[in-house]
Amino acid sequence: MVEDIELLKEEIKERLSEKRFLHSLAVMNMCEKLAKKYNCDVKRAKLVGLVHDMAKEMTDEEMLEYAKKNNIVITETERNIPQILHGKIASNLAKKKYDFDDEMCDAIKYHTTGKENMTLMQKVLFVADKIDETRKYEGVEELRKLAFENLDEAIIKNIDETLKINIDKEKVILEESIKTRNYLLINK
Ligand SMILES: [Fe+2]
Ligand SMILES: [Fe+2]
Repeated sequence: MVEDIELLKEEIKERLSEKRFLHSLAVMNMCEKLAKKYNCDVKRAKLVGLVHDMAKEMTDEEMLEYAKKNNIVITETERNIPQILHGKIASNLAKKKYDFDDEMCDAIKYHTTGKENMTLMQKVLFVADKIDETRKYEGVEELRKLAFENLDEAIIKNIDETLKINIDKEKVILEESIKTRNYLLINK
């Protein structure tokens, strides 16, 4: 596992635009805060925050190629919108390059949509990614506050808002998001 987080920061910086690198650092910081609040392992939560978007600036072709070469199973939706694959690919890279454990890799893999029955680390990363300090969208302050009161409610709220936006913009809705939301509502 990674011993020197500063070295890892340099590697992530090389892969990303400045804007996305700053987002990654801010997600790392937010993971630290949420991990402390909810008693999640702080060091590992920071690492997943730093690395979660490391594949996001690959081109569609590079993503599909990477998935093929590394036997990553892809859905029909992912084939059509390869950007969705960035979590799966980052998870695979984190395992291979940095020897992240399974819990960390799973958090990275599902950071965009969440999944049913998420672990605490998955929830921490999911929420940190949506409320990091570089985020400026309407309602973010409210969501930030909610995140420190009830992590599950923050996830539901974020998915609700995202669904509304995607409907208004006629964008694809990922079924994993629906499953995440239903699971949390049913198991409240
Ligand atoms: Fe992402
Ligand atoms: Fe992100």
